Amino acid sequence: MKDMHVIPADRLRAAVRMVVAGFGSSEAEVADVTDNLVEANLTGHDSHGVGMLPRYAEAFLEGNLKPNASVRTVMDAGAMLRLDGDTGFGQVVGRQAMEIGIARASQVGCCIMALGNAHHLGRIGAWAEMGVAAGLVSLHFTNVISRGIVAPYGGSDARFGTNPFTAGVPLPGREPFLLDFATSVIAQGKTRVSHNKGESVPPDHLIDNHGRPTTDPRYSVIEPFGAILAFGAHKGYGMAVLCELLGGALAAGMALHTSDTSKRRVYNGMLTVLIDPRMMGDASAFESEALAFADWVTASPPREGFDRVRLAGEPEREARARRLVEGLPVDATTWRQIVAAGEKLGVSATAVEAAAGLA
Ligand SMILES: NC(=O)c1ccc[n+]([C@@H]2O[C@H](COP(=O)([O-])OP(=O)(O)OC[C@H]3O[C@@H](n4cnc5c(N)ncnc54)[C@H](O)[C@@H]3O)[C@@H](O)[C@H]2O)c1
Repeated sequence: MKDMHVIPADRLRAAVRMVVAGFGSSEAEVADVTDNLVEANLTGHDSHGVGMLPRYAEAFLEGNLKPNASVRTVMDAGAMLRLDGDTGFGQVVGRQAMEIGIARASQVGCCIMALGNAHHLGRIGAWAEMGVAAGLVSLHFTNVISRGIVAPYGGSDARFGTNPFTAGVPLPGREPFLLDFATSVIAQGKTRVSHNKGESVPPDHLIDNHGRPTTDPRYSVIEPFGAILAFGAHKGYGMAVLCELLGGALAAGMALHTSDTSKRRVYNGMLTVLIDPRMMGDASAFESEALAFADWVTASPPREGFDRVRLAGEPEREARARRLVEGLPVDATTWRQIVAAGEKLGVSATAVEAAAGLA
């Protein structure tokens, strides 16, 4: 058995479509979920790609993920919207919410949109990409309702999730600035991927169940649980708390304050701020200054160990171009878990393997 499969994007899509159909999803939902997950793998974020399917299957089987749900507007106050995701697939209700927010911001110049009750919204950068594609600045503060996995600065156990912060800024005539990261020093999914590959994680990323430093990813994946550290010491910790306060308490009306580890569902609360720079008074100054700054900053001569200076968003576009040609690496453990998840949903393992070209 190979340790790593390399699967062409089309093949992976075909196999994942079969597994997602096992949730009883409509054709449109199957396409939304599949495309979003494979796109995360294409951009290099395997932590938020097809490897999430086993977790989604468990959430569905425990009754906490509702297929074929739609987003519902709970409050509409012009530039402020409150939406409810009805515990539906984040890949679907996230897209629907962004469509509503983008339409509103394009009308009135901005929109502050609260989304609660969404199941896992995946790679949050996908939503910022939708915003910038419409010419909007797209800011996202997201919390995670699942078992806590990140320790507060100075604390010795897990108290909140990997709470991502995401910002997309359109750069006229160029690819956008797309900053999208977990506020933990490493995304939880990346510890899962390392654990599945039998690899350790770098020092200063994790603490064990006694609060001691460790490089063993098991402490983030299987019991007894330790915790991941926030990135950037007290600064990243502060951003994580901000995401909990805005994405969780304010947007979703749901913040994390329990040590219950029994449920497999992952809900995200997300506060989105959309701004139309063309309606802020001096669009031409914004455009010329943004481009001049981008040129200035990327012109810094690379220091040893670097080939050049990049803007956020570039690594994902580079990974995408490369992986479209080379195929998508999926480690054997993750692949087995995906096939097993399909079986739990009544999908034939042989058919999934054949669709991926691995039979
Ligand atoms: N839905 C959820 O609950 C949830 C929770 C946590 C994270 N996430 C997602 O996980 C994904 C991965 O997060 P992560 O923390 O592992 O990301 P990461 O550490 O890989 O950082 C990614 C960000 O850094 C930028 N970047 C990387 N290298 C760069 C370079 N050399 N120069 C300039 N910029 C550079 C990237 O363009 C990107 O914006 C994100 O898409 C995030 O939205 C989702």
